[in-house]
Amino acid sequence: MEKPSILTVTLNPAIDTAYRLEYLKTGSTTRTKKPLRTAGGKGLNVTRVLSILGESVTATGFLGGSNGTYIRNELARLGVRDEFVQILGETRQCLAFIDSRNNHTEILEEGPSISSEEQEEIRKLLRVLIPEVKILVVSGSLPLGVSSNLYQWMIREAKNHGVKVLLDTSGEALAESLLLGPYLIKPNREELEEILGCSCQGEEEIWKAMEKIAEKGIEVVIISDGDKGSLVYYKGERLKVVSAEIRAVSAVGSGDSFIAGFAAGLSKGYSIKDTLVLASACGSANALEETTGYINLQNLDYLIKQISIESSWSGRS
Ligand SMILES: Nc1ncnc2c1ncn2[C@@H]1O[C@H](COP(=O)(O)OP(=O)(O)OP(=O)(O)O)[C@@H](O)[C@H]1O
Ligand SMILES: [Mg+2]
Repeated sequence: MEKPSILTVTLNPAIDTAYRLEYLKTGSTTRTKKPLRTAGGKGLNVTRVLSILGESVTATGFLGGSNGTYIRNELARLGVRDEFVQILGETRQCLAFIDSRNNHTEILEEGPSISSEEQEEIRKLLRVLIPEVKILVVSGSLPLGVSSNLYQWMIREAKNHGVKVLLDTSGEALAESLLLGPYLIKPNREELEEILGCSCQGEEEIWKAMEKIAEKGIEVVIISDGDKGSLVYYKGERLKVVSAEIRAVSAVGSGDSFIAGFAAGLSKGYSIKDTLVLASACGSANALEETTGYINLQNLDYLIKQISIESSWSGRS
């Protein structure tokens, strides 16, 4: 097997189960067709899109119980190298109910608690896996029992081996881990405002906030904003990525698909602009699909042609 160049981390994966219903009524019985099931958790969404893009990818994190087995079978089907740590707890299942008016009702399980032995096991494993790859993608929230210390440790370990870390998390885990200087962060607008503790009025204020974050040693700072595209601060340059115009079906997982596209561009040695175009096209391609963290390769070419990047300099570097 070819040496994988990208390693993804999903500490709190889930089977995402989506039911389509006429309408959802509490306190009564609703009959429905078979739901759509996917191996979820943000890192696994990234993993699936990377495998569709033909990248060689290894996935790790924590899996347990019969839900864990379901996800392992999915990984095997995708041809992804499965390096998940087996845990005593049961991997969670998250439910989404989508009615005919496209209202989404979600029930998110918190997931199993991870013991200190299980955390030690993943550190041991990562000491072996990280030096093997070029890119480490760390996505999603922390499971019960795990502190942001583990993300911080991963960033340090990766940097020691010259591995680029793409970190896509939110809240405290993001605020505390960005101090370690991962290669890239990509909060969306909401997640940015959450870590800043205030709302940004206008684009100039967002650029200023991004430049401040970049000072912590983060080479690529991206703020994504759904159909409005994304703002990227890279080595003193302000890049505004204007998205393709599409008829979106479901944009859930578009950020994860964007990260997958970015990792793929980076792995292929693309320029920053070509990497951003691929990332943005993957984000939009995901929005065309009902399945979360899924793209149809046939849509990529026409999306790529629609994406433009405007560049200006910040006056800093
Ligand atoms: N409706 C849309 N139309 C076109 N492109 C979209 C749309 N929604 C998302 N995208 C593309 O995907 C990128 C990432 O989307 P978004 O900002 O919604 O990420 P996110 O909120 O992190 O998503 P998630 O966390 O659910 O994966 C956008 O910058 C854009 O390129
Ligand atoms: Mg996101």
